Amino acid sequence: MVFCGAGLSAESGIPTFRAASDHALWSRYDPEELASIEGFTRNPDRVRGWYAWRRGLVAEAMPNDAHHALAGWHEALLVTQNVDDLQERAGAPDERILHLHGSIVHDRCHDGCGWVGPVESEAGGGRSECPRCGGVARPAVVWFGETLPQAVWTRACRACSETDLLLVVGTSGVVQPAAMLVEMAADGGAYVVNVNPEPTPLDALADASIHAPAAGVLPALLPD
Ligand code: APR
Repeated sequence: MVFCGAGLSAESGIPTFRAASDHALWSRYDPEELASIEGFTRNPDRVRGWYAWRRGLVAEAMPNDAHHALAGWHEALLVTQNVDDLQERAGAPDERILHLHGSIVHDRCHDGCGWVGPVESEAGGGRSECPRCGGVARPAVVWFGETLPQAVWTRACRACSETDLLLVVGTSGVVQPAAMLVEMAADGGAYVVNVNPEPTPLDALADASIHAPAAGVLPALLPD
């Protein structure tokens, strides 16, 4: 099992949220304004414009060697906090990928009818109206204060309790409940390997920490 964060896509040019760099998103933008229901309610067009910009970065990015190495690790379940589709574009099948925080390449109904659909490429900002119920549409990502998709979370927790190996790649490990998965796996007896150029609190849970960038490490670490 693999637990991924924004660092996995960093070498594809997609900014992380907190990494020690001035490109990190939360050092430039206010998550309360751009990644919360309150911020969306206050100014939906500003939020949609920000996601249009992020969608452009994802569309221009290419999967890196770490994505390809994970795609080639056929028996591994990839539990990711990332909302980009680089792991899918590297060839990992949908059934092996769990998006804990949703998908930036989809919109969904904000009013609870259950509609989810791909973002029309030309309308980078995505839909404003749900095509099924006529309600409000918004990016299909999990915002601060929202709950994770229940079925995805349940499957991720079950996998954590059953896995004998957890590879952690590119996460600061500070956002809950996602980061709890590492402790769950460690408590379940899994061997935990943490790949991150920077030290993080997850090092204390890891049996082995590799402080190096993912794209250089994973191809050497994983089976072809
Ligand atoms: N290889 C591996 N790790 C890297 C690389 C790299 N090339 N470059 C940076 N990193 C590491 C950074 O050191 C940092 O610890 O990736 C981590 C990214 O941390 P965050 O930016 O906090 O991203 P993440 O842990 O995924 O954040 C979790 O927070 O804002 C929410 O919803 C958002 O899913 C996100 C969640």
